[in-house]
Amino acid sequence: MGKIVILDHPLITHKISIMRDKRTGTKDFRTLTEEVAMLMTYEAMRDMPMETKHISTPVAEADVQVMTGKKPAIVPILRAGLGMVTGILSLSPSSKVGHIGLYRDEVTHEPHEYYANLPKDISKRVIIIPDPMLATGGSAVQAVDYIKSKGGKNIKFMCIIAAPEGLKALSEAHPDIDIYVGALDDHLNENAYIVPGLGDAGDRIFGTK
Ligand code: PRP
Ligand code: URA
Repeated sequence: MGKIVILDHPLITHKISIMRDKRTGTKDFRTLTEEVAMLMTYEAMRDMPMETKHISTPVAEADVQVMTGKKPAIVPILRAGLGMVTGILSLSPSSKVGHIGLYRDEVTHEPHEYYANLPKDISKRVIIIPDPMLATGGSAVQAVDYIKSKGGKNIKFMCIIAAPEGLKALSEAHPDIDIYVGALDDHLNENAYIVPGLGDAGDRIFGTK
């Protein structure tokens, strides 16, 4: 059974509050997206596998703990998930990076896949899927479906803001994955936008619209 972790750290909450403000421009929004992703990575990698290694410090011989296993795979959902990758890499610089391209139809809100490329040996890696917004959950469910169809097993989904509807949909469709949420908002509006949310994450990261 996976876990659902709602991050309630003041640094994360404060930065998300600035992101929500419509007066926050592209440059600051992009920086904040990276910073929140970095802070969330600290928590998401808390249970990484460790092994003992023997070393010599300048003072003595010592058995120390180091992370073990294959390098993690970061698989952002394009486009907005890209904005979180640099932040995750800043704490896990050796991670491999794959991509899943999905866009949400503006009328039906259904996700459509247009690109996918995963690191090799995906079944042996811890996989982090970043996407700033978990709204209906359709994009996240489809991304996890795809990664599992390619052999992915140890999956962590990371979003900055979730709607209760999306969190329910993702955790019911994939009860085995871990889900990390920066802030849990109130509801979806009639256009399937998160309320209060922060608007269109992709447009705000990349300055489109
Ligand atoms: C946004 C967001 C998620 C998706 C969430 O992407 O980044 O991928 O919507 O909505 P859902 O939970 O209802 O599926 P969008 O489709 O706007 O594409 P973009 O990242 O290219 O802007
Ligand atoms: N996608 C976004 O970027 N924002 C929302 O509120 C919902 C979906």
